[in-house]
Amino acid sequence: MKNRQFLSVRLITLISLVASGVIIVLASSCGACGREKASIESDSLKGLKDFYMGYFPVGVAVAPNSLDGDQAELIRKHFNSLTAENAMKPGPIHPEENRYFWEHADLIVDFAQVYGMKVRGHTLCWHNQTGAWMFQDSQGNQVTRETALARLQDHIKQVVTRYKGKIYAWDVLNEAVTDDQDPAKIFRESLWYNICGEEYISKAFQWAHEADPGAVLFYNDYNTENPVKREKIYNLLKKLIEEGVPVHGVGLQGHWNISNPPAQEIRESIDKFSSLGLEIQITELDVSIYASRNDTINMGFTPEREQKQMDFYRTAFDMFREKKDFITGVTFWNISDRHSWLDRRERKCYPLLFDEDLKPKKAYWEVVRFW
Ligand code: G3I
Repeated sequence: MKNRQFLSVRLITLISLVASGVIIVLASSCGACGREKASIESDSLKGLKDFYMGYFPVGVAVAPNSLDGDQAELIRKHFNSLTAENAMKPGPIHPEENRYFWEHADLIVDFAQVYGMKVRGHTLCWHNQTGAWMFQDSQGNQVTRETALARLQDHIKQVVTRYKGKIYAWDVLNEAVTDDQDPAKIFRESLWYNICGEEYISKAFQWAHEADPGAVLFYNDYNTENPVKREKIYNLLKKLIEEGVPVHGVGLQGHWNISNPPAQEIRESIDKFSSLGLEIQITELDVSIYASRNDTINMGFTPEREQKQMDFYRTAFDMFREKKDFITGVTFWNISDRHSWLDRRERKCYPLLFDEDLKPKKAYWEVVRFW
Protein backbone atom coordinates (compact mmCIF):
# COMPACT_ATOMS: atom_id res chain seq x y z
CA MET A 1 0.00 0.00 0.00
CA LYS A 2 2.75 2.35 1.06
CA ASN A 3 4.64 1.28 -2.05
CA ARG A 4 1.61 2.00 -4.30
CA GLN A 5 1.19 5.41 -2.66
CA PHE A 6 4.86 6.16 -3.27
CA LEU A 7 4.54 5.11 -6.93
CA SER A 8 1.50 7.31 -7.51
CA VAL A 9 3.30 10.28 -5.89
CA ARG A 10 6.25 9.61 -8.20
CA LEU A 11 3.89 9.43 -11.17
CA ILE A 12 2.16 12.68 -10.25
CA THR A 13 5.52 14.37 -9.74
CA LEU A 14 6.71 13.08 -13.13
CA ILE A 15 3.53 14.24 -14.89
CA SER A 16 3.71 17.65 -13.28
CA LEU A 17 7.40 17.95 -14.17
CA VAL A 18 6.72 17.08 -17.81
CA ALA A 19 3.72 19.41 -17.87
CA SER A 20 5.68 22.32 -16.41
CA GLY A 21 8.48 21.61 -18.88
CA VAL A 22 6.02 21.82 -21.72
CA ILE A 23 4.64 25.05 -20.27
CA ILE A 24 8.15 26.47 -19.91
CA VAL A 25 9.04 25.48 -23.49
CA LEU A 26 5.75 26.90 -24.77
CA ALA A 27 6.14 30.02 -22.71
CA SER A 28 9.70 30.61 -23.79
CA SER A 29 8.90 30.01 -27.46
CA CYS A 30 5.97 32.42 -27.18
CA GLY A 31 8.42 34.92 -25.71
CA ALA A 32 10.63 34.44 -28.78
CA CYS A 33 7.54 34.90 -30.92
CA GLY A 34 6.70 38.10 -29.14
CA ARG A 35 10.24 39.39 -29.34
CA GLU A 36 10.45 38.55 -33.04
CA LYS A 37 7.10 40.21 -33.65
CA ALA A 38 8.21 43.28 -31.72
CA SER A 39 11.47 43.44 -33.66
CA ILE A 40 9.67 43.06 -37.02
CA GLU A 41 7.32 45.83 -35.95
CA SER A 42 10.13 48.13 -34.87
CA ASP A 43 12.15 47.27 -38.00
CA SER A 44 9.23 48.20 -40.20
CA LEU A 45 9.04 51.60 -38.49
CA LYS A 46 12.67 52.24 -39.36
CA GLY A 47 13.93 53.44 -42.72
CA LEU A 48 17.11 52.51 -44.59
CA LYS A 49 18.78 55.63 -43.23
CA ASP A 50 18.09 54.53 -39.64
CA PHE A 51 19.63 51.10 -40.13
CA TYR A 52 22.69 52.80 -41.67
CA MET A 53 22.94 55.63 -39.16
CA GLY A 54 26.33 54.52 -37.85
CA TYR A 55 27.65 53.83 -41.35
CA PHE A 56 26.86 56.37 -44.09
CA PRO A 57 24.00 58.47 -45.48
CA VAL A 58 21.64 56.62 -47.80
CA GLY A 59 20.47 58.67 -50.75
CA VAL A 60 18.15 58.53 -53.73
CA ALA A 61 18.01 60.20 -57.14
CA VAL A 62 14.79 62.15 -57.62
CA ALA A 63 12.82 64.24 -60.05
CA PRO A 64 10.82 67.21 -58.72
CA ASN A 65 7.53 65.44 -59.45
CA SER A 66 8.48 62.58 -57.12
CA LEU A 67 8.56 64.92 -54.12
CA ASP A 68 4.85 64.58 -53.64
CA GLY A 69 2.32 61.94 -52.42
CA ASP A 70 3.33 58.39 -51.56
CA GLN A 71 6.79 58.69 -53.13
CA ALA A 72 7.60 61.71 -50.97
CA GLU A 73 6.51 59.75 -47.93
CA LEU A 74 8.80 56.88 -48.86
CA ILE A 75 11.70 59.27 -49.50
CA ARG A 76 11.29 60.88 -46.09
CA LYS A 77 11.12 57.56 -44.31
CA HIS A 78 14.10 55.87 -45.94
CA PHE A 79 16.60 58.43 -47.23
CA ASN A 80 18.70 61.22 -45.76
CA SER A 81 20.40 62.37 -48.95
CA LEU A 82 19.05 63.47 -52.33
CA THR A 83 20.55 63.68 -55.81
CA ALA A 84 18.77 65.37 -58.71
CA GLU A 85 18.39 62.70 -61.38
CA ASN A 86 18.44 65.30 -64.16
CA ALA A 87 17.61 68.76 -62.81
CA MET A 88 21.16 69.94 -62.07
CA LYS A 89 22.81 68.64 -65.23
CA PRO A 90 24.25 71.34 -67.51
CA GLY A 91 21.53 71.04 -70.19
CA PRO A 92 18.46 71.21 -67.94
CA ILE A 93 19.82 73.87 -65.57
CA HIS A 94 21.56 76.05 -68.17
CA PRO A 95 19.57 75.69 -71.40
CA GLU A 96 20.91 78.86 -73.07
CA GLU A 97 24.04 80.91 -72.60
CA ASN A 98 22.26 83.69 -70.74
CA ARG A 99 19.45 81.66 -69.19
CA TYR A 100 19.48 79.37 -66.19
CA PHE A 101 16.48 77.25 -65.23
CA TRP A 102 16.65 76.90 -61.44
CA GLU A 103 13.09 75.89 -60.62
CA HIS A 104 13.46 72.10 -60.56
CA ALA A 105 16.83 72.10 -58.81
CA ASP A 106 15.50 74.58 -56.23
CA LEU A 107 12.51 72.34 -55.47
CA ILE A 108 14.84 69.45 -54.70
CA VAL A 109 17.18 71.53 -52.56
CA ASP A 110 14.23 73.12 -50.69
CA PHE A 111 12.69 69.69 -49.98
CA ALA A 112 16.02 68.49 -48.61
CA GLN A 113 16.36 71.58 -46.42
CA VAL A 114 12.86 71.22 -45.00
CA TYR A 115 13.43 67.56 -44.08
CA GLY A 116 17.05 67.89 -42.98
CA MET A 117 18.55 65.86 -45.80
CA LYS A 118 21.91 66.22 -47.50
CA VAL A 119 22.15 67.02 -51.22
CA ARG A 120 24.72 65.71 -53.69
CA GLY A 121 25.06 67.86 -56.79
CA HIS A 122 25.07 66.00 -60.09
CA THR A 123 26.81 67.05 -62.31
CA LEU A 124 28.84 70.11 -63.38
CA CYS A 125 30.60 68.79 -66.46
CA TRP A 126 29.48 65.94 -68.68
CA HIS A 127 29.61 65.01 -72.37
CA ASN A 128 25.87 64.26 -72.25
CA GLN A 129 22.84 66.43 -71.38
CA THR A 130 24.77 69.62 -72.12
CA GLY A 131 23.26 72.35 -74.29
CA ALA A 132 24.61 72.39 -77.84
CA TRP A 133 25.04 76.17 -77.39
CA MET A 134 27.94 75.51 -75.02
CA PHE A 135 30.14 74.39 -77.92
CA GLN A 136 28.85 76.66 -80.70
CA ASP A 137 29.13 80.30 -81.68
CA SER A 138 26.22 82.35 -83.05
CA GLN A 139 26.90 80.99 -86.57
CA GLY A 140 26.82 77.41 -85.34
CA ASN A 141 30.58 76.93 -85.65
CA GLN A 142 32.54 75.13 -82.99
CA VAL A 143 33.93 77.55 -80.40
CA THR A 144 37.58 77.95 -79.53
CA ARG A 145 39.23 76.30 -76.54
CA GLU A 146 39.24 79.67 -74.72
CA THR A 147 35.52 80.22 -75.23
CA ALA A 148 34.60 76.67 -74.18
CA LEU A 149 36.69 76.96 -71.02
CA ALA A 150 35.27 80.41 -70.22
CA ARG A 151 31.72 79.04 -70.57
CA LEU A 152 32.52 76.06 -68.38
CA GLN A 153 33.99 78.36 -65.76
CA ASP A 154 30.95 80.60 -65.77
CA HIS A 155 28.59 77.62 -65.59
CA ILE A 156 30.39 76.06 -62.63
CA LYS A 157 30.66 79.36 -60.79
CA GLN A 158 26.96 80.20 -61.16
CA VAL A 159 25.62 76.78 -60.22
CA VAL A 160 27.96 76.04 -57.31
CA THR A 161 27.59 79.54 -55.87
CA ARG A 162 23.78 79.36 -55.92
CA TYR A 163 23.77 76.24 -53.75
CA LYS A 164 26.82 77.03 -51.65
CA GLY A 165 26.36 75.58 -48.17
CA LYS A 166 23.27 73.61 -49.28
CA ILE A 167 24.95 71.09 -51.54
CA TYR A 168 27.67 69.31 -49.59
CA ALA A 169 29.21 67.32 -52.45
CA TRP A 170 29.43 67.78 -56.21
CA ASP A 171 30.03 65.33 -59.03
CA VAL A 172 32.29 67.85 -60.73
CA LEU A 173 33.18 65.64 -63.64
CA ASN A 174 31.16 62.74 -64.97
CA GLU A 175 32.36 59.89 -67.19
CA ALA A 176 35.44 61.52 -68.73
CA VAL A 177 37.41 58.27 -69.08
CA THR A 178 36.89 56.03 -72.09
CA ASP A 179 35.56 52.45 -71.96
CA ASP A 180 38.02 51.52 -74.71
CA GLN A 181 40.01 48.54 -73.50
CA ASP A 182 43.15 49.83 -75.19
CA PRO A 183 45.26 50.95 -72.20
CA ALA A 184 46.82 53.71 -74.31
CA LYS A 185 43.47 55.50 -74.77
CA ILE A 186 42.56 57.33 -71.58
CA PHE A 187 39.99 59.99 -72.27
CA ARG A 188 36.53 59.87 -73.78
CA GLU A 189 36.52 61.68 -77.13
CA SER A 190 33.95 64.19 -75.95
CA LEU A 191 33.52 67.72 -77.23
CA TRP A 192 35.07 68.92 -73.98
CA TYR A 193 38.17 66.83 -74.61
CA ASN A 194 38.35 67.50 -78.33
CA ILE A 195 38.01 71.26 -77.94
CA CYS A 196 39.91 71.87 -74.68
CA GLY A 197 42.25 68.91 -74.27
CA GLU A 198 42.93 67.39 -70.87
CA GLU A 199 43.09 70.78 -69.15
CA TYR A 200 39.32 71.14 -68.73
CA ILE A 201 39.47 68.43 -66.07
CA SER A 202 41.73 70.12 -63.53
CA LYS A 203 40.12 73.50 -64.28
CA ALA A 204 36.64 72.16 -63.54
CA PHE A 205 37.74 71.01 -60.08
CA GLN A 206 39.57 74.27 -59.37
CA TRP A 207 36.58 76.40 -60.36
CA ALA A 208 34.19 74.30 -58.26
CA HIS A 209 36.53 74.62 -55.30
CA GLU A 210 36.81 78.39 -55.72
CA ALA A 211 33.03 78.72 -55.78
CA ASP A 212 32.52 76.62 -52.64
CA PRO A 213 35.68 75.69 -50.75
CA GLY A 214 33.58 73.63 -48.32
CA ALA A 215 32.14 71.27 -50.94
CA VAL A 216 33.46 67.72 -51.35
CA LEU A 217 34.40 67.28 -55.00
CA PHE A 218 33.98 63.99 -56.84
CA TYR A 219 34.99 62.35 -60.07
CA ASN A 220 32.06 60.08 -60.99
CA ASP A 221 31.99 57.17 -63.44
CA TYR A 222 30.44 53.79 -64.34
CA ASN A 223 32.23 50.48 -65.07
CA THR A 224 34.74 51.44 -62.42
CA GLU A 225 35.11 47.72 -61.67
CA ASN A 226 36.48 46.97 -65.12
CA PRO A 227 40.21 46.43 -64.44
CA VAL A 228 41.42 48.39 -67.49
CA LYS A 229 39.09 51.34 -66.90
CA ARG A 230 39.81 51.23 -63.15
CA GLU A 231 43.53 51.59 -63.85
CA LYS A 232 42.93 54.58 -66.13
CA ILE A 233 40.72 56.33 -63.57
CA TYR A 234 43.21 55.55 -60.81
CA ASN A 235 46.10 57.05 -62.82
CA LEU A 236 44.08 60.14 -63.69
CA LEU A 237 43.07 60.75 -60.06
CA LYS A 238 46.61 60.10 -58.81
CA LYS A 239 47.97 62.65 -61.26
CA LEU A 240 45.35 65.23 -60.27
CA ILE A 241 46.13 64.74 -56.58
CA GLU A 242 49.88 65.04 -57.23
CA GLU A 243 49.25 68.29 -59.09
CA GLY A 244 47.33 69.63 -56.11
CA VAL A 245 43.95 69.64 -57.89
CA PRO A 246 41.11 69.71 -55.33
CA VAL A 247 39.57 66.30 -55.97
CA HIS A 248 38.31 64.64 -52.80
CA GLY A 249 36.31 61.61 -53.80
CA VAL A 250 35.42 59.10 -56.43
CA GLY A 251 31.88 58.09 -57.24
CA LEU A 252 31.35 54.49 -58.29
CA GLN A 253 28.02 54.77 -60.05
CA GLY A 254 27.01 51.18 -59.30
CA HIS A 255 24.78 50.46 -62.28
CA TRP A 256 25.13 46.74 -61.69
CA ASN A 257 23.09 43.65 -62.40
CA ILE A 258 22.41 40.32 -60.70
CA SER A 259 25.36 38.66 -62.49
CA ASN A 260 27.93 41.42 -62.67
CA PRO A 261 30.35 42.74 -61.57
CA PRO A 262 31.90 40.13 -59.26
CA ALA A 263 32.06 41.30 -55.64
CA GLN A 264 35.83 40.94 -55.72
CA GLU A 265 36.10 43.60 -58.45
CA ILE A 266 33.94 46.03 -56.47
CA ARG A 267 36.16 45.45 -53.44
CA GLU A 268 39.28 45.97 -55.53
CA SER A 269 37.95 49.31 -56.79
CA ILE A 270 37.07 50.53 -53.29
CA ASP A 271 40.51 49.52 -52.02
CA LYS A 272 42.42 50.97 -54.94
CA PHE A 273 40.71 54.35 -55.03
CA SER A 274 40.68 54.75 -51.26
CA SER A 275 44.44 54.05 -51.20
CA LEU A 276 44.75 57.49 -52.81
CA GLY A 277 43.15 59.01 -49.73
CA LEU A 278 39.89 59.64 -51.60
CA GLU A 279 36.40 59.23 -50.20
CA ILE A 280 34.32 56.59 -51.92
CA GLN A 281 30.63 56.96 -52.65
CA ILE A 282 28.32 54.59 -54.48
CA THR A 283 26.45 57.28 -56.36
CA GLU A 284 23.89 55.64 -58.68
CA LEU A 285 23.11 52.22 -57.31
CA ASP A 286 20.71 49.83 -59.02
CA VAL A 287 20.86 46.08 -59.66
CA SER A 288 19.00 45.10 -62.80
CA ILE A 289 17.57 41.60 -63.11
CA TYR A 290 18.98 41.53 -66.66
CA ALA A 291 22.61 40.73 -67.27
CA SER A 292 22.94 43.33 -70.00
CA ARG A 293 21.11 46.31 -71.41
CA ASN A 294 20.68 44.36 -74.66
CA ASP A 295 19.13 41.34 -72.99
CA THR A 296 15.67 41.63 -74.48
CA ILE A 297 14.29 38.29 -73.42
CA ASN A 298 11.60 39.40 -71.04
CA MET A 299 11.47 36.70 -68.40
CA GLY A 300 10.15 39.01 -65.73
CA PHE A 301 10.93 39.04 -62.05
CA THR A 302 11.23 35.25 -61.64
CA PRO A 303 11.98 33.64 -58.23
CA GLU A 304 15.49 32.79 -59.48
CA ARG A 305 16.21 36.38 -60.46
CA GLU A 306 14.70 37.62 -57.24
CA GLN A 307 17.01 35.33 -55.24
CA LYS A 308 20.06 36.41 -57.23
CA GLN A 309 19.15 40.04 -56.63
CA MET A 310 18.79 39.39 -52.89
CA ASP A 311 22.22 37.72 -52.86
CA PHE A 312 23.81 40.57 -54.82
CA TYR A 313 22.39 43.28 -52.58
CA ARG A 314 23.32 41.38 -49.38
CA THR A 315 26.91 40.84 -50.52
CA ALA A 316 27.27 44.45 -51.68
CA PHE A 317 25.95 46.00 -48.46
CA ASP A 318 27.96 43.59 -46.28
CA MET A 319 30.99 44.97 -48.09
CA PHE A 320 29.87 48.59 -47.84
CA ARG A 321 29.45 48.22 -44.07
CA GLU A 322 32.85 46.57 -43.79
CA LYS A 323 34.33 49.52 -45.72
CA LYS A 324 32.49 52.20 -43.79
CA ASP A 325 35.71 54.05 -42.98
CA PHE A 326 36.10 54.85 -46.68
CA ILE A 327 32.52 54.93 -47.93
CA THR A 328 30.82 58.24 -47.19
CA GLY A 329 27.52 57.68 -48.98
CA VAL A 330 25.40 55.21 -50.94
CA THR A 331 22.75 56.59 -53.30
CA PHE A 332 20.11 54.63 -55.22
CA TRP A 333 19.31 55.72 -58.76
CA ASN A 334 15.53 56.11 -58.60
CA ILE A 335 13.09 55.39 -55.83
CA SER A 336 11.30 52.14 -56.59
CA ASP A 337 10.57 49.63 -59.32
CA ARG A 338 7.60 51.82 -60.27
CA HIS A 339 10.06 53.79 -62.38
CA SER A 340 13.68 53.19 -63.30
CA TRP A 341 15.73 54.86 -66.03
CA LEU A 342 16.63 51.29 -67.08
CA ASP A 343 13.07 50.34 -68.03
CA ARG A 344 12.29 50.04 -71.70
CA ARG A 345 8.82 49.88 -73.19
CA GLU A 346 9.17 46.11 -73.72
CA ARG A 347 10.66 45.21 -70.37
CA LYS A 348 11.03 46.29 -66.75
CA CYS A 349 14.30 45.77 -64.86
CA TYR A 350 13.14 45.70 -61.20
CA PRO A 351 16.50 47.07 -59.99
CA LEU A 352 15.58 48.73 -56.68
CA LEU A 353 14.67 47.81 -53.10
CA PHE A 354 11.00 48.87 -53.27
CA ASP A 355 8.37 47.36 -55.54
CA GLU A 356 5.85 49.13 -57.76
CA ASP A 357 3.53 49.60 -54.76
CA LEU A 358 6.47 51.10 -52.84
CA LYS A 359 6.61 48.10 -50.49
CA PRO A 360 10.02 46.81 -49.37
CA LYS A 361 11.12 43.84 -51.51
CA LYS A 362 12.86 40.76 -50.10
CA ALA A 363 16.16 42.34 -51.17
CA TYR A 364 15.39 45.23 -48.83
CA TRP A 365 15.41 42.93 -45.81
CA GLU A 366 18.75 41.48 -46.94
CA VAL A 367 20.17 45.01 -46.82
CA VAL A 368 18.85 45.96 -43.39
CA ARG A 369 19.44 42.68 -41.50
CA PHE A 370 23.05 42.63 -40.40
CA TRP A 371 24.07 39.04 -39.65
O1 G3I B 1 12.87 66.34 -70.10
C1 G3I B 1 12.55 65.78 -71.37
C2 G3I B 1 11.13 65.99 -71.67
O2 G3I B 1 10.90 67.38 -71.80
C3 G3I B 1 10.77 65.24 -72.96
O3 G3I B 1 9.40 65.34 -73.19
C4 G3I B 1 11.14 63.76 -72.82
C5 G3I B 1 10.88 62.98 -74.11
O4 G3I B 1 11.66 61.82 -74.16
O5 G3I B 1 12.51 63.69 -72.54
C6 G3I B 1 12.84 64.31 -71.32
O6 G3I B 1 14.19 64.17 -71.09
C7 G3I B 1 14.67 62.90 -70.73
C8 G3I B 1 15.27 62.99 -69.33
O7 G3I B 1 15.90 61.78 -68.99
C9 G3I B 1 14.22 63.34 -68.26
O8 G3I B 1 13.26 62.35 -68.20
C10 G3I B 1 15.72 62.48 -71.73
O9 G3I B 1 15.11 62.23 -72.97
C11 G3I B 1 16.43 61.24 -71.25
O10 G3I B 1 17.54 60.97 -72.11
C12 G3I B 1 16.96 61.47 -69.86
O11 G3I B 1 17.58 60.26 -69.42
C13 G3I B 1 18.45 60.43 -68.32
C14 G3I B 1 19.85 59.96 -68.71
O12 G3I B 1 20.71 60.07 -67.58
C15 G3I B 1 20.45 60.78 -69.84
O13 G3I B 1 21.68 60.26 -70.20
C16 G3I B 1 17.93 59.59 -67.19
O14 G3I B 1 16.68 60.10 -66.74
C17 G3I B 1 18.94 59.60 -66.02
O15 G3I B 1 18.55 58.67 -65.07
C18 G3I B 1 20.31 59.23 -66.54
O16 G3I B 1 21.23 59.33 -65.47
C19 G3I B 1 22.60 58.98 -65.75
C20 G3I B 1 23.47 59.77 -64.82
O17 G3I B 1 23.22 61.13 -64.94
C21 G3I B 1 24.96 59.49 -65.09
N1 G3I B 1 25.23 58.07 -65.03
C22 G3I B 1 24.38 57.23 -65.86
C23 G3I B 1 22.90 57.49 -65.51
C24 G3I B 1 22.03 56.56 -66.29
O18 G3I B 1 22.14 56.79 -67.67
